Amino acid sequence: MDALIDIRDVKLTYETKGGRLPVLDGVDIQVPEGGFVAVVGPSGCGKSTLTRLIAGLLEPDAGEVWLHGERVTGPKSTVGMAFQNPVLLEWRSVLRNVTLPLELVAPRMPKREKEERARQLLALVGLEGFEDKRPSELSGGMRQRASLCRSLVHKPDVLILDEPFGALDAFTREDLWQTMQKVKSEEPFTGVMITHDLRESIFLADEVIVLSGRPAVTQYTMEIPWEGERDLDRLYGPEATDMLGELRRQIQIAQGRTSREGDA
Ligand SMILES: Nc1ncnc2c1ncn2[C@@H]1O[C@H](COP(=O)(O)OP(=O)(O)O)[C@@H](O)[C@H]1O
Ligand SMILES: [Mg+2]
Repeated sequence: MDALIDIRDVKLTYETKGGRLPVLDGVDIQVPEGGFVAVVGPSGCGKSTLTRLIAGLLEPDAGEVWLHGERVTGPKSTVGMAFQNPVLLEWRSVLRNVTLPLELVAPRMPKREKEERARQLLALVGLEGFEDKRPSELSGGMRQRASLCRSLVHKPDVLILDEPFGALDAFTREDLWQTMQKVKSEEPFTGVMITHDLRESIFLADEVIVLSGRPAVTQYTMEIPWEGERDLDRLYGPEATDMLGELRRQIQIAQGRTSREGDA
């Protein structure tokens, strides 16, 4: 078994007051160790639901989620998560927000060691000098950087990101993409990232998976053929344009629309 994250034919239906809502109808995703997969799909198709299944916060009705050769049956500390709107604790400094997972997962680790680890990550994402600030003193991009540090501080086997840069402006987002690359080379992780930004997906991921409309199935998979470090210029070149065109076409199929000439 090669995949560190192995999502096998997962199905999930929510029981709501209004009746049954089938959300996932057979999603398959395999991520090898050190791999990073982006998942895109129409709004409401079940992407966040999928992250909750990987994190063990929800159980599938059918199919299985395996992490590191173990079946997921509940929340695990070996999973790190980050979301679109980082929930940072206002009464704690940035540093103490980042050390929080260590307080839960490694209570015996000396405080100095916890703080050292947090400082090292904060420096990696460009937040050196902001350790003692309160979250409200940070910009949106900086809060997201801090949140990323917090999700990685306990060296999780798996990182799950749900539209982490969705609330940021385009320029800040591109900065964060570059930071993510740096983080990935210094602090290797295996991850799944949900995004609605196709350019972001091809810049950061090894593979982009398009989910169909709800109830979602794995509709399409695109390998990103780029080796080594990626630069932003490449993202505006002809190769990227072709990949983005195909992904856009797949999203339109997922949305139940056929693509029209010149449709962007
Ligand atoms: N806890 C829940 N109970 C009932 N319905 C839910 C719940 N969470 C999400 N949904 C519904 O399931 C569908 C998929 O939601 P979600 O996974 O958040 O989609 P996405 O992240 O792709 O936008 C949506 O129609 C949403 O309203
Ligand atoms: Mg969502």
